[in-house]
This record gives sequence, C-alpha cells and structure tokens, in this order.
Amino acid sequence: MTATLSSSSRWELAVQALQEQYQPQVVSLSEQFEPLDPIALLSWADREFGDGLLLACSFGPEDVVLIDLLTSIRPHARAFFLDTDFHFPETLELREQILARYPQLQLESLKPLLTPEEQAAQYGPELYRANPDLCCSIRKVEPLNRALVSCTTWITGMRREQSPTRADIGKVQWDGKRNRLKLNPLADWTETQVWDYIRTHGIPYNPLHDRNYPSIGCIHCTAPVAPGADPRSGRWQGKAKTECGLHT
Ligand code: ADX
Repeated sequence: MTATLSSSSRWELAVQALQEQYQPQVVSLSEQFEPLDPIALLSWADREFGDGLLLACSFGPEDVVLIDLLTSIRPHARAFFLDTDFHFPETLELREQILARYPQLQLESLKPLLTPEEQAAQYGPELYRANPDLCCSIRKVEPLNRALVSCTTWITGMRREQSPTRADIGKVQWDGKRNRLKLNPLADWTETQVWDYIRTHGIPYNPLHDRNYPSIGCIHCTAPVAPGADPRSGRWQGKAKTECGLHT
C-alpha cells in the first residue's frame, strides 16, 4: 500500500482525465444514484475507478458498513485511517477486529507529521484546547491531503442527517480542494438503517456507541451526549466548531 501511495504521478494523470469527464457530471450522476442503494454506486465506482478508489475510514458505524459493502465487491479494497495519535483505545481495538474480519482489506493508517510531543513543544501543550482548528489541521487535514494523493476517488461515510452542514451533500461530488471525485454512498441513509445493517451482518462496532458516544473523534474533543441529544453535540463540546476540516 505504501508503495502505491508514493506513486503519486500515476494518479495525477488519471485525475486530469477524470476531472474533464466527471466534474461536469456530478449533479446528474448524483440524481441517477439517488434512488439506488449504496451497492449500486459502489459497483459503478469499482468498474469506473478500480484501484483509484480509496475509502476514508474512521471506524465509525457508517465506515464499518462501507467496509462490509465495498469488500463484498472488491475484497482487496483500499482504505485509510487518519491515526491522529489521540484516538480512544476502543477505536484502535476496533481497527484490529475489522482487520481480522476483512484480512484482504488494504488499510493504511496515516500519522501526522508531528508526534504529540513535537506538537506540544512547537505549539504548547493542549493545542486541541487552545486552537482546535490548528490541531485538526495538523493531525487530520494534512494527513488526509497526503492520503488522497494516491487515489482518483474517495469514499466517505457522511450522511445528510448527521448535521445541517451535511444536509445537502450529493452521493457524487467534486472535491475541488483536493481535485478528487468524492462519493458519499450512505448520504440518504438514516441512523436506523446504519445500525440495522450492522446488527443484521454482525459487524464489529465501537463499544463506546453503547455508552452515549454516537459520534467519535479524538479523545480530547469527544464527549458523551445525553440520550436523544444531537449525535454530533459531543464533538468539540463547548466550542463553536462543528467540523474538523476534512469535509469543508
Ligand atoms: S469529522 O470530519 O467530523 O471527523 P465524521 O466523524 O462525521 O467526520 O466522519 C465522517 C466521515 O469522514 C467518515 O465516515 C470517514 O469517511 C471520514 N473520516 C472521519 N474521520 C476519519 C479518520 N480519522 N480517518 C479516516 N477517515 C475519517
């Protein structure tokens, strides 16, 4: 996987062709796939983009569903996990469980350029408190941009229901920041659909979800929420921040 990631020029050439062909079509493609189930979009993407497909996986409920769906089409599917060094032990344990269940999955875990200690030395301790945007930028956004160099098309687990900022996402988008096609196969799924899929297929999931953590990010910036509260209200609690910058 690392070797594939480093051969970035191969992907840049592929992206140029893809941009010309697909950027003008994202709205009509989204409309075309809107009434269809996620497997229809993933199967089409597999035929069109093959090894250029890359799944962004935080091991949230949507991501484990997508791993199950994508590997049913492409057992050696490629995925990446942005390992911020600040994940809950439960999230890291789930990564091992998923790798054991899907041994052919080509998962790469990407680390930030700075260790937590280097970050503290450079920016002061608890940057996540003092400047969470900068912390996300160092620990998530920069590694994301690095990961996406090795693909033409990335897949996310974003759903419209998750937040007002996601209410209008299409199933097929052009990510102009990274110059990549972006697919959101579960955009129209409800939380119930996600959990029904997980339970029906017996897919491992993060046990913190059973302890009032509906949406899980880094340990310092994720809190439990009251039952029935906005599922994302535990992220960056007490701050105006609602997104880490991967999707904005
Ligand atoms: S976030 O931007 O607030 O962190 P959220 O947790 O809702 O996003 O996840 C939305 C999607 O972003 C996930 O389904 C996944 O595709 C991608 N994503 C989020 N965090 C990561 C991560 N650490 N590694 C890889 N992909 C991630």
